[in-house]
Amino acid sequence: MNALAGIRWGSATAAYQIEGAVDRGGRVPTIWDLFTAKPGTTTRGDTGADACRAYDNPEPMLDAIDWLGIDTYRLSVAWSRVISGPDGATNPEGIAYYRRVLQGLHDRGVTPAVTLYHWDLPQWLQERGGWASLETAAAFVHFAVTAVRELGDLVRDWITINEPFCAAFHGHLSGLHAPGIRDEAIALRAALVQLHAHGEAVRAIRAVAPGARLGLAMNLSDLEAASDSVEDLAALQRADLVENRLFLHTVLQGRLPDDAVDYFGADAVGAAVEGIDVARITERLDFIGINYYEHNVIRAADTDNDLVVRGIEKLPVPEPRSANGVAVRPDGFTRVLLRVAELAPELPIWVTENGIGLWDYLAPDGRCNDVERVTFIDQYLDALADAVSNGANVEAYYFWALTDNFEWSHGYQLRYGVFYTDYPTGRFIPKASAERFRARIADERNGATNRAKNTVRRDGAAA
Ligand code: FCB
Repeated sequence: MNALAGIRWGSATAAYQIEGAVDRGGRVPTIWDLFTAKPGTTTRGDTGADACRAYDNPEPMLDAIDWLGIDTYRLSVAWSRVISGPDGATNPEGIAYYRRVLQGLHDRGVTPAVTLYHWDLPQWLQERGGWASLETAAAFVHFAVTAVRELGDLVRDWITINEPFCAAFHGHLSGLHAPGIRDEAIALRAALVQLHAHGEAVRAIRAVAPGARLGLAMNLSDLEAASDSVEDLAALQRADLVENRLFLHTVLQGRLPDDAVDYFGADAVGAAVEGIDVARITERLDFIGINYYEHNVIRAADTDNDLVVRGIEKLPVPEPRSANGVAVRPDGFTRVLLRVAELAPELPIWVTENGIGLWDYLAPDGRCNDVERVTFIDQYLDALADAVSNGANVEAYYFWALTDNFEWSHGYQLRYGVFYTDYPTGRFIPKASAERFRARIADERNGATNRAKNTVRRDGAAA
């Protein structure tokens, strides 16, 4: 039996990372425009001002999608292109752009999956308190319903929010992401307000589009304690609370994990849930989106060594690892999927992101031979098959990313695409990994069981 025969194959991007044209088409400024304008926030001062120029011309990206032969493409619609400002008016130019892209996907036989919030909060909302304010949740619901009304004839699958952990804790505690705040109580509030916005949006979307399929995308980490000492096990629990359970359990069980009060304190938790009915965060979902990147070994630390979780440190990651030091651990991917399956056995899982950042470059022959990503695809798809064989109900897998793009604080240096983005010319060049992913998809569809491993030649493309 081929475990992956029924999977829908896809690839993903997000608006701010690919579109560019930040001051055109009626788009209003976002927190990322302001954040990247500040010195020191991104590698080399890169911003999303131009990115892959997908707004000016979506065709090359649609052609890349077509070439890859995927079933489905995950994109995000920018709140700042859909809603013009505090009066909530719809921006027709923004809608026209997304309709063109979505129609382009349908013309190529590709099913879109649309993320509503992939971190690009309109700045006018930040000025009113951003994700610390319930006003932002109400505005999100209005945006979500508007997007579904305007685009719902072309889209059935919607992801409310992408990685609320990162938006909360990197946006408001480590300060590595926009809006660059560093305050734990605000970060916790931002987490809860996003989850509340998710639940409210799911109900509101169902009311206007009963046929919609709805979920959210959360990043989960596979964590392990450095030893079985009491201290390290407690450190593991703290990291697991903040990075995983605060989101996973709250969304699926409608209450905060029991140790949230111990860790954050009763006052901070009380303030974070003010005006929010936590039980109503749990709303029937059609799928749960899982973004998997991280495996970490956690040790107790007296000093606050980690930028997000207090009293822990993450041990240095051995090779193989990504260019930005993330462990290559396909076994962690299997474990995370099985953990979700155990918690919610009936709920379909969509792997909404999985990928690896590398310092890719074009060789003199004009090709990008990203052997590490080719191996990554083979190993992670095998890990996916392991999870499915052991009971994980996985329906879809989206590789991050389709093309290299603006990788947030890493700017353009760190590349995740299976297509190499040649920024000066705007061309997308299939890397060896694109050839491998395309071949694997075709094989899995044909029910092939031979999983050739590591047959990439250093001198050329996938063999
Ligand atoms: C995820 C983000 C995505 C991309 C990948 C590499 O955390 O959702 O936009 O940056 O990481």
